This record gives sequence, C-alpha cells and structure tokens, in this order.
Amino acid sequence: MFSHSPLPSSQPVRERRTLRALAAATLLPMALAISQPTVLAPTPSQPEGPFYPKTFPADRDSDLTQIAGRAARAIGTPLYLTGHVFARDGRPLGNATVELWQCDVHGRYHHAGDDGLPRDDNFQGYGVATTDAGGRYAFKTIRPVPYSGRPPHLHVRVRPASGPTLTTQIYIAGDGVEGDIVLSAASRGTLERLTMTLAPMSGRETGALAGTFDLVLR
Ligand SMILES: [Fe+2]
Repeated sequence: MFSHSPLPSSQPVRERRTLRALAAATLLPMALAISQPTVLAPTPSQPEGPFYPKTFPADRDSDLTQIAGRAARAIGTPLYLTGHVFARDGRPLGNATVELWQCDVHGRYHHAGDDGLPRDDNFQGYGVATTDAGGRYAFKTIRPVPYSGRPPHLHVRVRPASGPTLTTQIYIAGDGVEGDIVLSAASRGTLERLTMTLAPMSGRETGALAGTFDLVLR
C-alpha cells in the first residue's frame, strides 16, 4: 500500500530538486492563468489633422458649449461625451489628460488656418478633461458636423500620467463616411473601432445627445 508521506530528509538532493522543478513546472502555468491580465486592443490612432490649436483658448475647460464671460452658448446639438481611459491590461488610468478639439456648428475650426465665415464665436473649439481615479472623463460639446468632404468627427488626444500619448478621431454611427481621405488611408476595421453610437440624453436640453467612447492606450 502506498502512502503520501513527506520526502525523507535523507532523500538525495538531486531528486528533491527534480521534484521541486516538477512542482514549479506544474504550478507556474496555473499561476499565470490566474494572474493573466485582461488584454484590450489599443484604440487605433489617427492623424492629428491641421487644426490642433497653435494657441490655446483662455477658457479650455471640459464644457465647449460655454465660454467663460459670455452669456450666449454655442449653437448646435448639445453632446454629452463620456468614457474611460484604460491601459491594455484593463486598468483605468486616472489623472490622464484628454484633449478634445473639433469644428463648430458651421464646420469651422477656431484656428488661424480656418478663418472662413460663418463662425460661432461662442463655441470653445478646444477643451481639456482629466480622468478621475476610475479613468473616467466627461465633456459637454456639440454634435460634430461634416466639413470640406470630411464626415463628422471629434479629435482627441490622451496624455497619460506616464507613457505614450494617443491621438485619434471619433466618428458617429450612421454618418456617411464614403470617400473620406483619412479613413481611406486607415487599416481595415479602424472605422468600426472609432465609431460611437449616440442616444438621446435624458434630463438635459431638448434634443441633447449622449455618447460614450472608451480609449485604450498602448
Ligand atoms: Fe477635423
């Protein structure tokens, strides 16, 4: 009859080492399986485009529909944009800076390179949000509109507390993007991963929209 008695201390050292190695070889994959991190696909990057601010507005908060000191608000459909910033292992990244810039309701960027009219001087054009401990960010802006052959889009840049930045663009589900020069140059599947679905935002302005978009850094 066999009994599972401990190894006698007199057992040759080589054999004990072999058994320890065998145990390690058996347990290591289990330990790895237990601690295996969630691996998220990084958000595809997109070109910065020509209208990242050269000079930043004095008011650069996360509400692009209201410039401090002005009574009037921006024209356009209010859009409440929220989301998270994650690392690839699924960790929410707090204290990350999220920049948002986009055109106004007339398709104008508030940039020296886009000085046409009409233009909504009550639109902030650029804003910044900082993620909380849960990696969450929030903006109030307007639903983007098409301009110069480009479909509606939001430009975002994420600067984590450490590590590389992400610059990309977010598109809206249901908007036509055929022939877009930026998306035409993107790899297959990029549009699907950069598309956000909008829904009515309850409890806010009539017609306001809500959209959520999570950003995963490399
Ligand atoms: Fe743009």
